[in-house]
Amino acid sequence: MEIFLDSALIEEIRAVKKLGLLDGITTNPTLLSKTGKPWKEAAKEILKEVPDKPVSLEVVATDFEGMVKEARELAKMGDNVVIKIPCTDEGIKAVKALSSEGIRTNVTLVFSSLQAMLAAKAGAAYVSPFIGRVDDIAYDGMLVVEEIVQMFNIYGFETRIIAASIRHVDHVRRCAQLGVDIATIPYKVIMQMFKHPLTDVGLKRFLEDAKKAGISIL
Ligand code: E4P
Repeated sequence: MEIFLDSALIEEIRAVKKLGLLDGITTNPTLLSKTGKPWKEAAKEILKEVPDKPVSLEVVATDFEGMVKEARELAKMGDNVVIKIPCTDEGIKAVKALSSEGIRTNVTLVFSSLQAMLAAKAGAAYVSPFIGRVDDIAYDGMLVVEEIVQMFNIYGFETRIIAASIRHVDHVRRCAQLGVDIATIPYKVIMQMFKHPLTDVGLKRFLEDAKKAGISIL
């Protein structure tokens, strides 16, 4: 499973890049607003740091013409820019038009498998089902992802699934078990994935025993 970082903060992007685990970046207007910088400056900084992996930037227009115009502008910012388009009827029309121009799209704000199917039929490169926000309304976001995986396998859609709105490590584990293509994960959750209390306890004991045994390798 590919790991995307769900963040626009350059410090977080650099840190995950250093881990050698960064397969791409997703942003949205909320994440860009958290940088405290003008959006274009923040986006350019991200694209400079990550010039060779997909970086999703989101349109803010909601009508077909507006979304297409904005997408064309955003696409000029880099060959690796993927345009995030909301899953509305106007958005899906825009995805169809943009994919025929060779502009890659990531259909966002997807909360059902039917929405994902429409995005795939329109030629989206990626579709982003939001897990945590579905959990928030007392349904199971993972069930939506499971349905999408099943549906895409049945029809052989080439659209790649990005599990989004991930809130904790168990979301990531369950996505990996389902064979989801990509998870876009907040920095805090990526760091939690490394952790296990038994690793800490085990390491402490090995180091104590190494001292007792006089093991010193270099
Ligand atoms: C990424 O593509 C989404 O915009 C993001 O994962 C949404 O996460 P949230 O529901 O935690 O805001």
